[in-house]
Amino acid sequence: MIGKLLERGNQVLLEKQIDFAGRAETNTAVRFTREYFDSLGIEIRMIDAAPAVTETVFFKKTYTSPIMPAALSGLNGVCKNGLVETAKGAARAGVPMWIGIGEEAELEEAVETGADVVKIIKPYRDEDLILEKIKQAEKHGAVAVGMDTIFGFGGKKGDSLIRPDLMSPKSLSDLRRYVSATHLPFIVKGVLSVEDAEKAVDAGAAGIVLSNHSGSVLDYALPPLMVLPEIEKAISHSVTIFIDGGFTRGTDAFKALALGADGILLGRAVICGLAADGADGVHGILSGVNEELRRVMSVAGCPDVKHIHSGLVRRTISLPGAQRKHLMPAK
Ligand SMILES: Cc1cc2nc3c(=O)[nH]c(=O)nc-3n(C[C@H](O)[C@H](O)[C@H](O)COP(=O)(O)O)c2cc1C
Repeated sequence: MIGKLLERGNQVLLEKQIDFAGRAETNTAVRFTREYFDSLGIEIRMIDAAPAVTETVFFKKTYTSPIMPAALSGLNGVCKNGLVETAKGAARAGVPMWIGIGEEAELEEAVETGADVVKIIKPYRDEDLILEKIKQAEKHGAVAVGMDTIFGFGGKKGDSLIRPDLMSPKSLSDLRRYVSATHLPFIVKGVLSVEDAEKAVDAGAAGIVLSNHSGSVLDYALPPLMVLPEIEKAISHSVTIFIDGGFTRGTDAFKALALGADGILLGRAVICGLAADGADGVHGILSGVNEELRRVMSVAGCPDVKHIHSGLVRRTISLPGAQRKHLMPAK
């Protein structure tokens, strides 16, 4: 079912000439990310297995699944009222939704659908604008607020809303200021190194999102899944760890949960669902991927998300780089 929805969504996007493939020179980060997923296999633990449940707690509330829509924006071209339709789909699936760039009214409309909303703000040069957007998130009842710090030097040429002159890299003390400016949990999105993860924790963030934003700020950016175990170890799981980048199936989600993630964010997969069938399509993708996850968990002997662990996932095939290294003559 998910396969068909993704196919239909991709077809609609193609017909509308909408391309979210990313703005990197070679799109290698996207390829690396997929290859990394594909290099991992999953154990089967069937004896004494029980049907799994996927309920997960975020922000002190229990949700149906650890899988939810990523921070998205500019969806009206995909489908009429795209963001609101996404919120409706997420609410029906029983998971929070994340919102990226956008005006206050859009945030308000999304919350009115009954969805729990996480608002992600760009790293604007204008500090007052950041504080204003944090206050808007509080005013409209968002469950968390955060910043997509990865855009400190702006987006690629042509990204008019994330122009380099409108953005600035943020310091540890900036992050501390945002954390103390709100009673909401604060999330740092775009973490791709132990250093940034430790700074986010140091600043008092409640969560981080491992993300390379589809490689759109750096061609050859590392796959988030690859840095996940070292980050998880370094911060001793002291904050909630979300991850995004190329997730489409339940096996992808399982691998990330096994390597240390708590929550999985779906960007382009949710957009495909939205393009195919509006809120129903978003719900179809979220519930479909969650059903796949539930089955993988059951087969791997994990009755609930707390039982998923790194011992269930192994590297099976060599990545192209690893293969070359292996072939080097020993010194
Ligand atoms: C159309 C579109 C709009 C996006 N807008 C935002 C945004 O406003 N803020 C943000 O933090 N991330 C934004 N993202 C990035 C996603 O949150 C996510 O990091 C990225 O798409 C990788 O996930 P994916 O491979 O599942 O798409 C956007 C992505 C897409 C495709």
